[in-house]
Amino acid sequence: MAKRIGILTSGGDCPGLNAAIRGVAKVIYEKFNSAEIIGVEDGYRGLIEGDWHKVEKKDLSGILTLGGTILGTSRQPFKLMEKIEKDNVDKVSEMIRNYEKMRLDCLVTLGGNGTHKTANLLSQKGLNIIGLPKTIDNDIFGTDITFGFHTAVDIATEAIDRVHTTADSHGRIMIVEIMGHKVGWLNLYAGIAGGADIIIIPEIPYDIDSIIEAVKKRDRDGKNFSIIAVAEGAINKKEAKMGKKDFKQHRESMSYYSVSHRIASKLQEKVENDVRVVIPGHIVRGGSPSPYDRILATRFGVHAAMMIQKKIYGRTVALKGSDITDNNLSDIAGKLKSVPKYSEMVKGAKALGINFGE
Ligand code: F6P
Repeated sequence: MAKRIGILTSGGDCPGLNAAIRGVAKVIYEKFNSAEIIGVEDGYRGLIEGDWHKVEKKDLSGILTLGGTILGTSRQPFKLMEKIEKDNVDKVSEMIRNYEKMRLDCLVTLGGNGTHKTANLLSQKGLNIIGLPKTIDNDIFGTDITFGFHTAVDIATEAIDRVHTTADSHGRIMIVEIMGHKVGWLNLYAGIAGGADIIIIPEIPYDIDSIIEAVKKRDRDGKNFSIIAVAEGAINKKEAKMGKKDFKQHRESMSYYSVSHRIASKLQEKVENDVRVVIPGHIVRGGSPSPYDRILATRFGVHAAMMIQKKIYGRTVALKGSDITDNNLSDIAGKLKSVPKYSEMVKGAKALGINFGE
């Protein structure tokens, strides 16, 4: 049985990180009195720079419901991990050196896509790694759901609900921009749950004329307000044809604060109603996890502890249907789980009359 288990949380935080830490650590402490949990501070930064502390049993009290992460987190871009920068630090060697210095038997990494890429790299370098998939974006390959996602759906839905009533009162077009990075899961779920009239996701590039027509049609049908849920990563049809470099240049040359402001400005030229933009932003990532996420994160944590007990490494925990399972890190790292354009959910939403700006 592993005696010293490291845990780190990396990338953007999300609700459920503490519940997952607690899930792993409680099982380990329950089963093995002599085991020690080492909390690596601020994600891979702490592993590179050698900042850690012991996570005592008492540190686990009251954290099931606590948002954020008791270990701290940071963004350490994967593309820079193997690059020697100005500070001359060989980050990968430092991480391996600190893993050994901490005398770890294994390291549990809680994170999203970037975190999993680095976890896979460390695993290939010979470290014993177990991943746990967290992110509000729900874009990790190989798992149906990541923890943090459903809490964010709840909060984003409430944002849309609240905007709904004020849009109705004023006869306005309200655009709610929802996080989700390059995928549309969060916006799709919250948009459907919040009864959005138009849902724009990156997987279905939009045509502004289609959005304008959808708003005008609602007006003709006697609805003088509209709710448009826009994923922060939304792109239009022209942008979808651009290469990565051209797209970056094109976006940098634009003066809009975000994609919603750009849609709002085009829309406002064509409709009578006032158009407003609401961006909940990081609010959807903050605060206490929902019961769903507390349970999912706990189940993931417990599964990871069982893997540690069986010395199963180089894998990341996943939800498949209603079962908790695990995948090879090398099979999922670097792959993005996008919304399938022809999924039942998208087709169902269309059948309801929701416009996707096509
Ligand atoms: O990955 C989670 C996420 O909230 C994305 O939805 C969003 O694009 C990004 O992180 C925001 O990053 P930051 O917290 O660094 O501003």
